[in-house]
Amino acid sequence: MNTLLVGGGGREHAIVRKLRENPKVRTIWALPGNPGYGMDADCIDISAEDLDGVCEFARENPVDYAIVSPDDPLVMGLVDRLEALGIPCFGPNKAAAEIEGSKAFAKGLMEKYGIPTAKFKVFDDLDKALAFIDQVGAPLVVKASGLAKGKGVMICPTEDEAREAVRACMVEGKFGKSGETCLIEEFLEGPEVTVLTFTDGKTLVPMVSSMDHKRALDGDKGLNTGGMGCIAPNPYYTDEVAKTCMETIFLPTVEAMNKEGRPFKGCLYFGLMLTKEGPKVIEYNCRFGDPETQVVLPLLESDLLTIMEAVTEERLDQVDVNFSKDAACCVVLASEGYPQAYQTGYPVTVSDEVLDKVHFAGVRLERESLLTSGGRVLTVTDRAKTLDQAIKKAYRSIQDCHFDHAYYRKDIGQEALKARLS
Ligand code: AMP
Ligand code: GLY
Repeated sequence: MNTLLVGGGGREHAIVRKLRENPKVRTIWALPGNPGYGMDADCIDISAEDLDGVCEFARENPVDYAIVSPDDPLVMGLVDRLEALGIPCFGPNKAAAEIEGSKAFAKGLMEKYGIPTAKFKVFDDLDKALAFIDQVGAPLVVKASGLAKGKGVMICPTEDEAREAVRACMVEGKFGKSGETCLIEEFLEGPEVTVLTFTDGKTLVPMVSSMDHKRALDGDKGLNTGGMGCIAPNPYYTDEVAKTCMETIFLPTVEAMNKEGRPFKGCLYFGLMLTKEGPKVIEYNCRFGDPETQVVLPLLESDLLTIMEAVTEERLDQVDVNFSKDAACCVVLASEGYPQAYQTGYPVTVSDEVLDKVHFAGVRLERESLLTSGGRVLTVTDRAKTLDQAIKKAYRSIQDCHFDHAYYRKDIGQEALKARLS
């Protein structure tokens, strides 16, 4: 079978590794992939956002199955275009991807169908937004409505910070068109949980839960990033919480999307906060999380391609989706300065002993050397019987990965370990 995988980060590297476990898979064309995938995929120099380029490649090559992984091409409608070429795909179509593409749409959906989330208001007028901040007071959360590479969320402990955040969106154009409409939300507190789910629009199967660490610096300080590390399973996500989430959030969301005429097929990502009033949705994504995927997929014991094909063919209820009972921890090795300005072009070295634990993201090849080319350069995942051990192993393995001006958080998993004491 010849597969086409759209995307080129660490998350897609984890998908590639899992696809390779299926002997049916002959070719994996990764568009664009990255040279860290090595022999596991054929990387083709076509950007994930170049929809015309991807479709031209798909027309000219015998693609049996396509997986569209990142948010941008999903929201731009790549799945619709590939399906129009007769290629079966994993991933939601454009109408369903709107659940991530527009926070205003997602919040409206939750409001309409009574799905628990933070109270909010949507603004496209600066004066009204400023007046609202005066009226309700801090703390508040200001969010750009559109896609912003995971960076469009500003936590504002004071009213001044909230005003500044609204101006950054609507006056300074910090997030371009994505910030012209912004949301102002109630600030919620509680442990965070990510639950990735497979759904074919009829059945929903949750994967093992995880906890991302979105802030750049230790102790959850610094700016929001795409994610600096992750653990699974998330100890705050007990069986009881899982049951509540299934009844009040997961199934109602699938049902709501069906009622809106936007059936969702693919990986639906639930970013949740476990508040004193119960679990609430912080965000939906229309895709696998990064770096959540780098801890979740290594724990998947069933065959990924079989599950994906079942999603596409709407027979998810007929396949096994089993996860190991082990714990996993992944740590992101980033370029110093990320998520703001950083230097690239430094040689990357990874010892052979840990190579199979590394998922490459921001790297490029120059004269047979791997060089840094992005903010998040690679992730290292380790697993063990307990979370404690998995964290220790991941931090030992990361010592075998090097490049100049590398940066990583030292406290991935510590918040989860506290669950044992609470
Ligand atoms: P998002 O990109 O929407 O997931 O937001 C990024 C991060 O900002 C989340 O993982 C939370 O840590 C934080 N966050 C978002 N919305 C809220 C909220 N309403 N209250 C408190 N924290 C939030
Ligand atoms: N790690 C957060 C995300 O993928 O959106």
